Amino acid sequence: MTIYILNGPNLNLLGQRQPEIYGHDTLADVERRCTDLAARLGLTVRMLQSNHEGQLIDWIHEARAAAQGIVINAGAYTHTSIAILDALKAFDGPVIELHISNVHARESFRHHSYISARADGVMAGFGTQGYELALLRMQRILGDAVT
Ligand code: DQA
Repeated sequence: MTIYILNGPNLNLLGQRQPEIYGHDTLADVERRCTDLAARLGLTVRMLQSNHEGQLIDWIHEARAAAQGIVINAGAYTHTSIAILDALKAFDGPVIELHISNVHARESFRHHSYISARADGVMAGFGTQGYELALLRMQRILGDAVT
């Protein structure tokens, strides 16, 4: 089973960007760890990053035929993008919303997420380990568990 891991704006700078908030791991480090874990879980991951809303939407459309689940860190689009929410509503499989930081402990404009309305679960504040935790959860959901 294939999981798309979608990353939005500025996450290409992970490791350099505000490391006191987002840590020192790069997105390539996270991808390596996710690829290793996915292999052990019997999953395949496709790790993607774009600074462009339309590209993220195109990948969500592509996932309709190519993936069984989506993990999405939409970055700041989380707080602004009805278009990404609508695209996710057209995807039938599980969706996990992910934030490296605990957005609820930050500025109030980060407290609202459009994506949460479609997400099966939300992961926030677990650092980059959240990506691996999301994959574990994805495996559990895709294995038909309800809890
Ligand atoms: C983020 C939180 C967002 O508020 C922010 O705009 C990001 C990253 C996170 O991973 O903690 O770019 O999604």
